Amino acid sequence: MRPRKIIAALAGAALVLSMAACTKDPVVDPTGDPGAATGQLEIFSWWTAGSEALGLAELVKVLNDKYPDITFVNNGASTGGGSGKDVLQTRMAAGQPPDSFQVHAGAEAQDYITAKQLEDVSYLYSEFKLNDVFPTDLVDMLTKDGKIYTIPSNVHRSNVVWASIAALEKAGLSTTDAYYDSIDSFIAALDKAKAAGIEFPLAIGTTWCQVHLLETVLMADLTPAQYRGLFDGTTDWRGAEVKKALDHFAKLMSYTNADRGDLDWEPALVKVLDANAVFTVMGDWTPAALDARNLKEGVDWLWAPSPGTKGIYGFLADSFGLTTGGPNPAAGKAWLDVISSKEGQTGFNQVKGSIPARTDIDLSTWSNYQQGASESFKNDAIVPSIQHGAAATIAQGNDTGAAVSKFTVSPMAEANIATLQEELAKAYA
Ligand code: GAL
Repeated sequence: MRPRKIIAALAGAALVLSMAACTKDPVVDPTGDPGAATGQLEIFSWWTAGSEALGLAELVKVLNDKYPDITFVNNGASTGGGSGKDVLQTRMAAGQPPDSFQVHAGAEAQDYITAKQLEDVSYLYSEFKLNDVFPTDLVDMLTKDGKIYTIPSNVHRSNVVWASIAALEKAGLSTTDAYYDSIDSFIAALDKAKAAGIEFPLAIGTTWCQVHLLETVLMADLTPAQYRGLFDGTTDWRGAEVKKALDHFAKLMSYTNADRGDLDWEPALVKVLDANAVFTVMGDWTPAALDARNLKEGVDWLWAPSPGTKGIYGFLADSFGLTTGGPNPAAGKAWLDVISSKEGQTGFNQVKGSIPARTDIDLSTWSNYQQGASESFKNDAIVPSIQHGAAATIAQGNDTGAAVSKFTVSPMAEANIATLQEELAKAYA
């Protein structure tokens, strides 16, 4: 990976943090020897269903092997894309933190750091020897004033389009044409699919999935530098590039299923698998759902960087920290050991579809997709995901979701595009 690339991508995000600090200082618990941990470990993760739950189960297996005296409980909300984060925040605000929780690396984690709800776990990077195995620029990105508050379990890519080969055939589309070169060529393919009788060829789920689509369109219509500038004030959200992206977004949304408001990402994917739609734009947790159905790349499905984003890697990483005042800090540390260990990152990522954050895992027997993703991560321009907390704070994410949802439930008319653009500009002001 190119030195400092992620830092460049995320530095802007760090500048726009806005959560008010509360008064309690984080305290490192000196009694928290993970080796001696017993009792209940409570975490909060939204990996509660489908292929995501299978990934989490791999981590629990490693936990049970390494720490047999710990009982694992996930009290997370079952909402994809982390859209249930408000449940966690309510609990934290009420003084009932779990021991550890899933949080995206970047601006989103920064919110909890600012609110002093996360402990400094830099010492665990030494204890677990993580500085030797995580890419330096990833560790630098996680470092705030010399302290590190979370440990990544994986790295995901957001800007991917998935297609069903059966649906392409039904739509009269070849499996090799360059639909993904630009948003406009993709729109031409969607038109063709419509003409072939597939009414809603682009499958999508609820608000967070729509924000996810929007971020990939921004990645397509802005250069990487312009896109990064959206989060440090150097790119104008009210400018022409963003307007072009919003026009494209509105057009793309017109090809999507009317029941989108009720669906999470996996049911949207099922529409593609049932050939009721042809494509879906979603992160690379998707192959896990395809594997779970025994569907094969090249036989049943294809993928490409989402339209117009070849050479760009939309970055996000899940990470875990130790909560301030969590009930069982020793068990929390055991969890951080597990999610960062070679065994944990191997078992988990193989099933989850992501790539390990650790660089000492041999991927040569992993899926084609994962090997390709690992190459892209090393070579492509890295830009931070909005929906998945790398670029946007929780407040900005909430405001983005509200603006997008207001737009997509209304007739997506020109006047409403202007309102969407204005609301986004305000969210990142
Ligand atoms: C992302 C998360 C992924 C996956 C996805 C869908 O925010 O980083 O690991 O869980 O949501 O729920």
